[in-house]
Amino acid sequence: MALVHTEDRDGVRIITLDNPPVNSLSFALSGEFYPIVEAASADESIRAVVIKGANRQFSAGADINDFATEPTPETKTVRDVIAAIERSDKIFVAAIEKNALGGGLELALACDYRVATADTKLGLPEIKLGLLPGAGGTQRLPRAIGAQDALDMMLKGRNVKSDEATAKGLLDEVVDSPEHLLDAALKIANAAPLGKRRISQRRVELGKGISAQAAAFVVSQAHKMVPAEDAGGLAAHKLIDAVEASVELPFAYGLAREARLFEELARSAPSFALRHVFFAERELSKIPGLPAAEPLPIAKAAVIGAGTMGTGIAITFAQAGIPVVVIDSNDAAVEKAKQTVFGMFMYQVQKGRMTQEEAWKLGQSIQFTEEYGELADADVVVEAVFESMDVKKEVFAKVDAIAKPSCVLASNTSTLDIDAMASVTKRPERFLGLHFFVPANIMPLLEIVRGKATSPQTLATAFKLGKTLRKTAVLSTNAFGFIGNRMVFDYAKAAGELAEWGVSPMRVDKVAKKFGFPMGPFAMGDLSGIDVAWHIAKARPDVARGKTNVIDRLVEMKRLGQKTMAGYFKYDKSVGKGREPIADPEVEALFAEEAMKAGIAPRTVDDREILERLAFALINRGAFLLEEGVALRPGDIDIVYVYGYGFPPHHGGPMWYADEVGVKHVYERVVAFGWEPAPLLKALAEKNGTFANYKQGELIHA
Ligand code: 3HC
Repeated sequence: MALVHTEDRDGVRIITLDNPPVNSLSFALSGEFYPIVEAASADESIRAVVIKGANRQFSAGADINDFATEPTPETKTVRDVIAAIERSDKIFVAAIEKNALGGGLELALACDYRVATADTKLGLPEIKLGLLPGAGGTQRLPRAIGAQDALDMMLKGRNVKSDEATAKGLLDEVVDSPEHLLDAALKIANAAPLGKRRISQRRVELGKGISAQAAAFVVSQAHKMVPAEDAGGLAAHKLIDAVEASVELPFAYGLAREARLFEELARSAPSFALRHVFFAERELSKIPGLPAAEPLPIAKAAVIGAGTMGTGIAITFAQAGIPVVVIDSNDAAVEKAKQTVFGMFMYQVQKGRMTQEEAWKLGQSIQFTEEYGELADADVVVEAVFESMDVKKEVFAKVDAIAKPSCVLASNTSTLDIDAMASVTKRPERFLGLHFFVPANIMPLLEIVRGKATSPQTLATAFKLGKTLRKTAVLSTNAFGFIGNRMVFDYAKAAGELAEWGVSPMRVDKVAKKFGFPMGPFAMGDLSGIDVAWHIAKARPDVARGKTNVIDRLVEMKRLGQKTMAGYFKYDKSVGKGREPIADPEVEALFAEEAMKAGIAPRTVDDREILERLAFALINRGAFLLEEGVALRPGDIDIVYVYGYGFPPHHGGPMWYADEVGVKHVYERVVAFGWEPAPLLKALAEKNGTFANYKQGELIHA
């Protein structure tokens, strides 16, 4: 099947890109596209060319899979196609629908005119893949919209909709419906009011109020605003260099600089890691062996419990356009929840993200009640009450009796047994876990927990719901702590062990932050609550308890974390609004005292070992979870950690990082640390294997 089609209409050649699903500009497509452009340019019967996409969209850019392939001298890329357009004397018009991203927008920018449908997204999101736009984007976008605006758009990887793109001067015309797109493009092609209009021939405007003299300052400031090269900022620095070249160098030289920087990035470890994250995310909902099932429609939701979690979940539903009823009989909790909802939507209004009316409407779509009867017509019920099996069972027995038969019941528990809860209902096949992360309306991760009896249709419904709620959903089996928390217990224990040897919590956190985590393990413990960790450690000491009684002592001292302004650290309202950890010698002394009681001698540990202990604790547990089938794929674990726990995406997630540093090395260190190595880690190390090449079920019990 051809990837590019052509059709001539009265001297206009229409070129259609047809590479489903997103018309990626792969090497293969460019191989067909390039000679078509050359032929059109040489054809005297052709006055103009319209480029459009099949599959109801223009193009999502270069094929990300191609970056791992070495092109041969014969390979054509989108860069070659664009160069051919640039050389041509014909008029080129881009007819853009739905997506013009990355190389897709770069292709459109090489055309003389651009017309788009109203719902089109345009952007250069390459930075999210650890790349920079490598087909002229860093040179043409500054010429089209000004250097500062272009830099901002590319550094954030921000897409703009057609209206904003028009205001920026990126589009010549917007049509109200896809049916009118081709006609509008043909009209421009035939009339070409301004003749050829190569963006490459424009001068770069710097931006409002920036003089040429100030440009160097703007560039040096930009370098300071982005993370260091070794802390996830490599692509950002190169991108700034490329935009600087657009300002300082003639177009052709800027283009050559861009190409060189792009090739460097395409081979860089952070870009490989980010591309892994991109594809791992798209694998998540593909469940091997799961029969296809039609998801059930979700038009109304109910949340049981108006605490922090329940409120966050209710806001999430409302923001996704699903009306929700929150059931709670505690007046004080409901009052607080109402204030949270109100505050949240008002904040959005203040930020200009929605109007007063929209906020009011959203607020109205969350109803509070104490009547369970109100959930009778809900399509999904999410329980978010106190973490007690007895309480949850009682709630579900009640819910099951009232909810309609097709209603899906979900628990937001973070550790309790989903099957035990399902057993009190008459619909275990419609039961599962939906584990949101705090704050539920902000955190992008959702763990979908599959019980023994959860049906394929219920799972399909949960994945669809995850998408509607704009969450990244990962499947876990019903195991203690599921994927994320099960691993975080090992991570927290590793951190605790370091502190017991006399490494200060602040130093441990600093090492984690230097690696790229937004906060270290102790600050994270303070944020989620020492009492929460203490309850879990009490329930499952085998899994979640360290070697000393530090946690019990902290709870006794009412040092419960940020909420009590003291935990592993101190907090002060005047320092970082009470959220900035302040080292507390009292806690360091407590660790020393409890370590002595437990017979643990102090020792010195270097930063490398600190990082290895934290990261390898995650990897080792991840390997256990893979082998036990709790997580389906190494990539699923990576996504849980990147989206739920702030693992630096430029390291790809813990399992990807294991490959980066070498599985064998990880295994040897795990053994040297005296931890029980996962059999899968050992087996992979012995075979010099990688997690990237691991397939589900392989090497199990090797
Ligand atoms: N290359 C290869 N595959 C791509 C792709 C791309 N650029 N964009 C999307 N896909 C694939 C996805 O992997 C997925 O495959 P699957 O069905 O086998 O899982 C399929 O297309 C559909 O993608 P989504 O599931 O993400 O579909 P959505 O409708 O939710 O989103 C999208 C569509 C907004 C286009 C989103 O896929 C996206 O953001 N894509 C990436 C865009 C991008 O980063 N472009 C820049 C590429 S790099 C570049 O152009 C370099 C140039 O400067 C030289």
